[in-house]
Amino acid sequence: MVARVNTVAFQGVDVRPVDVQVQISSGLPAFTIVGLPDKAVAESKERVRAALHALGMSLPPKRLTVNLAPADVAKEGSHYDLPIALGLLAAMGVIPKEELEQSVVLGELGLDSSIRAVAGILPAAVHAGTNDNRLICPQSCGGEAAWAGDIDILAPRDLLQLINHIKGSQVMGRPEAKISDSSPVTGPDLADVKGQEMAKRALEITAAGGHNLLMIGPPGSGKSMLASCLPGILPPLTPREALEVSMVHSLAGSLPDGGLITKRPFRDPHHSASQPALIGGGHRVRPGEISLAHNGVLFLDELPEFSRGSLESMRQPLETGTALIARANHHVQYPARFQLIAAMNPCRCGHMGDGALECSKAPRCGSDYQSKISGPMMDRIDIQVDVPPVLVSDLDAPRGELSADVAARVLAARNAQQERFTALGAPENMTLNAHADSKILEEIAVMDADAKALLNKSMESAKLSARGYYRILRVARTIADLNNAPKTLNKMHIAEALGYRRVLAN
Ligand SMILES: Nc1ncnc2c1ncn2[C@@H]1O[C@H](COP(=O)(O)OP(=O)(O)OP(=O)(O)O)[C@@H](O)[C@H]1O
Ligand SMILES: [Mg+2]
Repeated sequence: MVARVNTVAFQGVDVRPVDVQVQISSGLPAFTIVGLPDKAVAESKERVRAALHALGMSLPPKRLTVNLAPADVAKEGSHYDLPIALGLLAAMGVIPKEELEQSVVLGELGLDSSIRAVAGILPAAVHAGTNDNRLICPQSCGGEAAWAGDIDILAPRDLLQLINHIKGSQVMGRPEAKISDSSPVTGPDLADVKGQEMAKRALEITAAGGHNLLMIGPPGSGKSMLASCLPGILPPLTPREALEVSMVHSLAGSLPDGGLITKRPFRDPHHSASQPALIGGGHRVRPGEISLAHNGVLFLDELPEFSRGSLESMRQPLETGTALIARANHHVQYPARFQLIAAMNPCRCGHMGDGALECSKAPRCGSDYQSKISGPMMDRIDIQVDVPPVLVSDLDAPRGELSADVAARVLAARNAQQERFTALGAPENMTLNAHADSKILEEIAVMDADAKALLNKSMESAKLSARGYYRILRVARTIADLNNAPKTLNKMHIAEALGYRRVLAN
């Protein structure tokens, strides 16, 4: 007699259905799980045994076989506990088998039979919805699952509550959809940053068009401070973006309080982070920082201190917006359309170019330090600005413009871009100038004759790459969008965009 329960396995953001088959047969007492289980799944039998014991039940002294089909897909994670336990209960005749037929089940069991939170509930709920199934998930994940739309959800606190519901002696309500954190963005205000007008302007353009930014300057000039002002000027996520971001965070098991994320992600990994931590992968595949920053910002402070391998492996995701991780027998894909914000000193001592403070090795130490960032990586950074030391007169100056005022302009520019893309019938995920491909760019960034002449001349004199050419056009389009969004780009827009494409000393 075989009992069946549906659950899922995750391969990147793809959800694969898994059939948990439980058989109780005569023979020497044994409990075996087959179907490529990892360590966490293999240990599940101890948790299931203990959870049933906590309810006063014991496993029959027979041969218990659990098969996780398809047998060629690796099963990772602890969410198989609950489907295995329900399969056993159905095979033992405690609950009716047909109650589980149209359900997708995920959950980890505690020894006291409590049902604990697991990763990936949101994508699993979307999967259940598309197949017209009910979702059975831990209570603490119910708020996350409810965002998947109009699906039937059971979010029990423990195994007993679930059994009682299935048998009809206690009825559970549908969980409420939850937002994880609706508190306002914290961090410094742009008004607190003294001087640095050029860097502030660059930050505004970056925020408006989703461009990549590199700030270069001596220690203590405010680079890290400027970057931490960015969340304060970025608009919140749109509902579609919020769902995309929450899917990735759900898979990483990092959805705060089991609710939807509405704040734009701002990730600032330390430079000692490993390549799998940044790009994704590792023993158990997990989204990396670049995917957790999807639709938001990845801030790499002290850029040259990151390992060369990590930086180079970001080149492809920066272009494609996806992180593709090769495993031994399959590929895993996570979305990774992030905006790169980086900060660095010009050299190891940090004062190159400052006659009074620079060390004796200047300018050699500068070129050695800067060469840690490869040419192709620099080519992907649209806006490069100097952040010079702050002057005493700047420190005494009154407070500047508030983040809220800048945020309003950024939002208006983003709305103008969105309307333009919608009018052109661009793909749904193309929302900012930085995402525009060269074909769309030719329609949205039409230059007047003077602007075109200037760009062509600079292309030759500065030996710009084709990528560099289009990146300048994108930045120029954003500059125009911040300035009443005229249809045609003029010389001023192109000149300002060109000014941000500084090539490091080498
Ligand atoms: N332009 C500025 N306006 C106001 N305060 C500033 C400014 N620059 C620096 N500070 C003050 O100095 C502190 C350090 O600045 P920050 O960490 O941003 O420097 P940094 O440029 O990142 O330096 P490093 O290269 O050493 O990382 C800030 O927390 C802030 O208090
Ligand atoms: Mg810093």
